[in-house]
Amino acid sequence: MTERIVLAYSGGLDTSVAIGWIGEATGAEVIAVAVDVGQGGESLETIRQRALGCGAVEAYVADASDEFADEYCMPTLKANGLYQGHYPLVSAISRPVIVKHLVKAAREFGATTVAHGCTGKGNDQVRFEVGIQTLGPDLKCIAPVRDLALTRDKAIAFAEEKGLPIETTKKNPYSIDQNVWGRAVETGYLEDIWNAPTKDIYDYTATPEFPPAPDEVTISFEAGVPVAIDGVKVTPLQAIKELNRRAGAQGVGRIDVVEDRLVGIKSREIYEAPGAMALITAHKHLEDITVEREQARFKATVGQRWAELVYDGQWFSPLKRSLDAFIEDTQKYVSGDIRMTLHGGQAIVNGRRSDTSLYDFSLATYDTGDTFDQSQAKGFIELWGMSAKVASGRDIRVAGQ
Ligand code: ARG
Repeated sequence: MTERIVLAYSGGLDTSVAIGWIGEATGAEVIAVAVDVGQGGESLETIRQRALGCGAVEAYVADASDEFADEYCMPTLKANGLYQGHYPLVSAISRPVIVKHLVKAAREFGATTVAHGCTGKGNDQVRFEVGIQTLGPDLKCIAPVRDLALTRDKAIAFAEEKGLPIETTKKNPYSIDQNVWGRAVETGYLEDIWNAPTKDIYDYTATPEFPPAPDEVTISFEAGVPVAIDGVKVTPLQAIKELNRRAGAQGVGRIDVVEDRLVGIKSREIYEAPGAMALITAHKHLEDITVEREQARFKATVGQRWAELVYDGQWFSPLKRSLDAFIEDTQKYVSGDIRMTLHGGQAIVNGRRSDTSLYDFSLATYDTGDTFDQSQAKGFIELWGMSAKVASGRDIRVAGQ
């Protein structure tokens, strides 16, 4: 029987050419797999037809936008997942959901190998292949750009020679990856890290320098997940989309960073994640009033480690799963409303309320009604400082010898 390979297919030039390229190099039949993670653009049907037009024997297309929002974006929100404190893991969290569908398609169509369009220099090859190894240990992986010398020039020549139904003239100098959680743009002019990004690279956000009138929004959460916006019930996907629109119009969520790739290269990336950044800001502020201090401090460390694991392609790893269990436990009381103003590139929280809040007015107030016994503070401070005080006494004693 002819061997079958499932290919992660975007509909773009490189993966369209990869269908025939893999076929010629390996003799295998190629099944194109396209997954909608809210990236917008062409319909899945258009992408399916193109895949078949480029020589795929079958095309598997899946609308995974709700699945992505519910099972990948929401855990990232609960973790306040920001790699290196900046990057909301846009591409990193889309790979595992694509992997799930690749493995499903491989089983459905009897494929032995999974192919993807990544180069040998980035994180995404790692995320795809570690994910595949975990969910389908019997499956092999192949990356035509990395393993079969499929360069851009060769791709254009191949598409023209074979008359593939794909545009080869449109020259975009950037490498772009996008989904409902955000958008990542790199390469070209941006590789000089002193160059400021030009206006043309943005798509999810309007320029924050000339914002429309401030937009006040109230986001309601239940157990760490947004459930309503301005009192109107929403699904996670709807919440992200609505905030992409409203925060995007105010230029919220533009991020320009040089990040540490897993493969050891520092690289510059521009992100826009208006919905994600507005949600993470609101969620963090709700945690500030609902999560107990020690749990909150520890959770910040856990969230950072969680983000590193996810960035590093360990979505399906045991440690990530254990950290998820911890994070989930902290979200039990993260319910309530956050009011924020979106304006001029910023999402600023100016009101919070929750039935499960730990904020106690009678303890916090400096006005009458104060129930806090200030006389207790003196003894507490004495004991709290004792250990450092004893050590400093020793330092003075030793220095004097
Ligand atoms: N640097 C990001 C990551 O590793 C995004 C990778 C894809 N970026 C792109 N512009 N194609 O998660």
